[in-house]
Amino acid sequence: MKILVTGCCGYIGSHTCVELLNHDYEVVGLDNFSNSKKEVLDKISQITNKKITFYEGDMLDEHFLESIFKDNEISCVIDFAAYKAVGESVEKPVEYYINNVSSVLTLLKVMKQYDCKRLVFSSSATVYGNPVEIPISEAAKVGRTTNPYGTSKLFVEQILKDLYHSDPSWNIVILRYFNPVGAHPSGLIGEEPNGVPANLMPYISKVAKKELTCLSVFGNDYNTKDGTGVRDYIHVVDLAIGHIKALEKLLKDECGISIYNLGTGVGYSVLDIIHTFELVNGVKIKYKMVNRRKGDIAVCYSDPKKAKEELGFVCKRSLEDMVRDAWNYEKNKKL
Ligand code: NAD
Ligand code: UFG
Repeated sequence: MKILVTGCCGYIGSHTCVELLNHDYEVVGLDNFSNSKKEVLDKISQITNKKITFYEGDMLDEHFLESIFKDNEISCVIDFAAYKAVGESVEKPVEYYINNVSSVLTLLKVMKQYDCKRLVFSSSATVYGNPVEIPISEAAKVGRTTNPYGTSKLFVEQILKDLYHSDPSWNIVILRYFNPVGAHPSGLIGEEPNGVPANLMPYISKVAKKELTCLSVFGNDYNTKDGTGVRDYIHVVDLAIGHIKALEKLLKDECGISIYNLGTGVGYSVLDIIHTFELVNGVKIKYKMVNRRKGDIAVCYSDPKKAKEELGFVCKRSLEDMVRDAWNYEKNKKL
């Protein structure tokens, strides 16, 4: 059974390829390396002793996509290819909408042409905007996104709903990720942010490595237990396994269009993350309190019940696993 993985060399795509290969799926992958490196392909083979069939190219290129579907009988697509930097999306909205929305339209057109109507789409908890109720269930209102990246995910979710209503023979799973962190325990693949990391865990890893001097904690006056922001961090390997669970449901042709949160259901503060990182890894993280970051919310964590009940998905990896694997990847990278 061939599964097409778009953005297969990226952070979440590469971990998902490993899990797919471990579960004996045949993986066809595509990437344009706009935010990843070719070497990831060797690392995936090293971990699994298996190879994926790889195509280098852009998902916006219809002919390129057609050539993949012509060569391979694809049963299902898992779509990771997108730009993901919130700040950059504010500077470059057009580029973000083209890459994150137009590329999906191209993909859907070609999938339809080849009668491949099963899709797993990477969405984000960002579509909930500033949530009214915590924990956040899939029934919560979406909208009021604060940046073009988040809005691009909202737009694609709507496009997929419209598509399904026009043709219920599609089977679509939309996965709303909370905060993916950590790395494969082998230390061979992990997160590779461009430039100075905008996200918490990669920033902490760089401070631990002394590539950055000090972490700025964005706000200690939130209404949380220690005043710092609370998030639902999910180990990237658990997240990848969530895709296998979604795929299993899709392949039984029984989901129509379904939306699932992928998170642990537990919220940790910024200080929890810093202190656990220090304790587990035996390193010191220098940090200072600064003003809140514009657009941040106080608390965001998931209600993971629906994914548990309908997909049988439960996160197995702890915060200790997340910080250990994040650091293991970072410290071994250039040794
Ligand atoms: P990533 O940047 O590491 O991976 C994306 C991959 O897609 C990269 O390898 C990039 O080169 C490729 N790509 C981008 N545009 C492409 C195009 N037009 N054609 C071909 N390849 C293209 O990102 P990630 O963290 O692995 O995220 C994967 C998906 O999950 C994205 O859709 C992202 O929006 C979503 N998501 C990520 C997070 C997170 O915190 N990492 C949270 C929620 C949702
Ligand atoms: N934080 C700091 N200092 C930093 C970076 C982050 O204090 O240098 C804090 C933030 O204020 C927040 C927490 O750490 O309280 C987590 O911040 P991240 O930037 O790591 O993650 P966000 O929750 O802001 O956003 C992430 C992705 C979004 C995605 C969202 C939900 O960046 O794309 O998770 O999935 F939409």
